[in-house]
Amino acid sequence: MTGIKVVTIGGGSSYTPELVEGFINRYDELPIRELWLVDIPEGEEKLETVGALAKRMTVKAGVPMDIKLSLDRREALAGADFVTTQVRVGLLDARAKDERIPLKYGVIGQETNGPGGLFKGLRTIPVILDICKDMEELCPDAWLINFSNPAGMVTEAVLRYSNINKTVGLCNVPIGMRMSVAEMLEVAPERVHIDFAGLNHMVFGLNVYLDGQSVTNQVLDKLTSGESMTMKNIVDLGWEPDFIKALQILPCPYHRYYYQTATMLEQEQQDLSEKGTRAEVVQQLEKDLFSLYSDPDLSNKPPQLEERGGAYYSDAACSLIHSIYNDKRDIQPVNTRNNGAIAGIPDDSAVEVNCVITKEGPKPIHVGELPIAVRGLVQQIKSFERTAAEAAVTGDYHQALLAMTINPLVPSDTVAKQILDEMLEAHRRYLPQFFKIVV
Ligand code: G6P
Repeated sequence: MTGIKVVTIGGGSSYTPELVEGFINRYDELPIRELWLVDIPEGEEKLETVGALAKRMTVKAGVPMDIKLSLDRREALAGADFVTTQVRVGLLDARAKDERIPLKYGVIGQETNGPGGLFKGLRTIPVILDICKDMEELCPDAWLINFSNPAGMVTEAVLRYSNINKTVGLCNVPIGMRMSVAEMLEVAPERVHIDFAGLNHMVFGLNVYLDGQSVTNQVLDKLTSGESMTMKNIVDLGWEPDFIKALQILPCPYHRYYYQTATMLEQEQQDLSEKGTRAEVVQQLEKDLFSLYSDPDLSNKPPQLEERGGAYYSDAACSLIHSIYNDKRDIQPVNTRNNGAIAGIPDDSAVEVNCVITKEGPKPIHVGELPIAVRGLVQQIKSFERTAAEAAVTGDYHQALLAMTINPLVPSDTVAKQILDEMLEAHRRYLPQFFKIVV
């Protein structure tokens, strides 16, 4: 059979119209025969709504891409060429707990970087590893492309605890940074190139180029003189100009949590009393999006979707699939096995780095040593991710406590234990590996 079969697990997500739009726009070079949107029974209603919109979008665009909806993951996976995963185990209610509970202890929760990220990883990794097992059996040649957060930790787990080698982790942060730089310089994003290196949500722009000429200093100057570089989900409190001058490389929006911890915490506490956590804001946004999606006259991606932090993730996804399928050998920043690209990070660990994208997958571009000022933080987060991934797989309480305590946002072992215990209880339903019955 000709054409590509793509399976999107978590297909009922409000982000799916982005992906569908990306595939429609690239249809000539990326002929997708079937796009399977798969979800769990609790997500059936959303799946139906998003699926109907996806069908209207393909009909309007006149592309013969068959949209299939399924609650049966195994049926969908059979014979797939690409599997994308965008799951949120425990849905937004669980995210609200991830963000809310740590705040009680004066700690930023954050759904990917702090204690929230740890718990999202503990819930998500076993589900992704189950998907890997199904893929081994039902579509052993397929690529697994994961966007489920925390994407770096999930990629780490897939690389180290599954038999799937053809895997890539993706994030929209590098795309967002490139777009922000382009906006600052008032040029088209295609003219901007950034040497990305680091980890997911811990990535730096080591050099920035415009048409091949270095503009790093110019961009850093703009960053400190009021020009914004952030995502919809992260408040921009500006940067201390002398810090950025000293740093000499471009931080990503998530670095605010590490370099501006006290002010970010204050902001989150204020937001909590005024509008709730980000999860609660997103719950409202989702309601609005789904009521738009239900309109039978809507047949394109509504602009309101750009209010989500993950806007444009489909550009990353579709470009990646396009380049793998067509052996394009262009450069894209993705999460992949380090293989020596970044010194001081284990070879078998996941890093987020510019890669040449080939039919055999991403080939990381050698970076060498990161600047000394950031090397330690990157290694610390890698230790956190590795420890957390191990805890997710084994259900070992002490590994989870280690991960919580070494996270730079957590101030002490005692506070780590208090947060861990409360969150384990709060998420008990989604963490069976920690509550095994010993007979
Ligand atoms: C950013 C991150 C994503 C994350 C999203 C959250 O874009 O890169 O990993 O999922 O923000 O956005 P939300 O609208 O859900 O707060």
